[in-house]
Amino acid sequence: MSIQWFPGHMHLTRQAIAERVKEIDVVIEMLDARLPGSSANPLMQQLTSGRPTLKVLNKQDMADPARTALWLAHYNAQPDTRAIALDASVTAPARALIDACFELAPRRGGMVKPMRVLICGIPNVGKSTLINTLKGKRAAKTGDEAGVTRTEARIALADDFYLYDTPGMLWPRIFVPESGYNLAASGAVGKNAYDEEEVAYELIAKLKTDYPALMEARYQLGLSPEAWAQTHDDELVDAIGRKRGALAGGGRVNMQKAAELVIADFRALHIGRITLETPEQFARWLKAGKQADAERAARKKKLREDGHISPERKPKPDKRPSTRKPR
Ligand code: G4P
Repeated sequence: MSIQWFPGHMHLTRQAIAERVKEIDVVIEMLDARLPGSSANPLMQQLTSGRPTLKVLNKQDMADPARTALWLAHYNAQPDTRAIALDASVTAPARALIDACFELAPRRGGMVKPMRVLICGIPNVGKSTLINTLKGKRAAKTGDEAGVTRTEARIALADDFYLYDTPGMLWPRIFVPESGYNLAASGAVGKNAYDEEEVAYELIAKLKTDYPALMEARYQLGLSPEAWAQTHDDELVDAIGRKRGALAGGGRVNMQKAAELVIADFRALHIGRITLETPEQFARWLKAGKQADAERAARKKKLREDGHISPERKPKPDKRPSTRKPR
């Protein structure tokens, strides 16, 4: 799936992170609990020079709790990494965040060596919501006029704990096709960047095998879990569209409308709490994606050596960054 979603301001964000990270002790990477692997920036490790990382699986209220547990265990088993799950209804997330950061960088703390934390995440992952909650609680708790100071995206969560905010950032190219579909289904990318019908088909293909009982409860097609898994995606979209009145002229199903309907149902939790990937599935996709990418690069190199395509050009820096809020 070809997606054009790396506008100028994201280059600037990348530069800003690279600059700021030099004086950072811990990186908080906000992930969407419905797609932790796909919402993780593959450039993060490189950008943050391997700083200890706290993975925050946000929107856990929308995700499958059993799969969230798998992801937490997966991340907590990695070196220099901690993971916690949060959602907007957790009214006091500061304690969990602060504790996890001190576990990752135990030598920091106190006025002389305050904890300095950078928070990153893709657009729409819930970063502003979390930061607002953190700000609000601190201000309410201290009753201090200054409350939480937010100067140039620096937020003081405690006297010796500073959080640096960054704008939401996606990455230039997605080499794991499943990640592209999952990001699109979750609403992380703007509607114009993908084909809704294609995304809905991928979503249905996944849900019919991973969550057939939830699909039956929502769409009432009278199918057993086995029948859901075995029915062709076209037939399912057709049956869902028919059931829900997404019709075009002549009694035919309006596939675009049916596609929109399934994506909207998924996002609004009408199907249920769903996580689109397990650590094991994602590892498989990543491996295949990397392999396909390496093969593509080798083919391109060969074509270049044989003079079939022009030599690689360095990308020009974007002089006119977009001022639009990323979606
Ligand atoms: P961002 O700064 O990372 O871009 O994200 P932001 O906080 O603006 O949150 C994006 C949307 O996600 C918001 O919905 C917000 O309410 C919702 N959200 C954030 N955290 C959680 C969470 O833990 N659980 C749930 N269920 N939702 C959460 P919105 O204002 O309705 O915007 P939109 O969905 O119309 O874009």
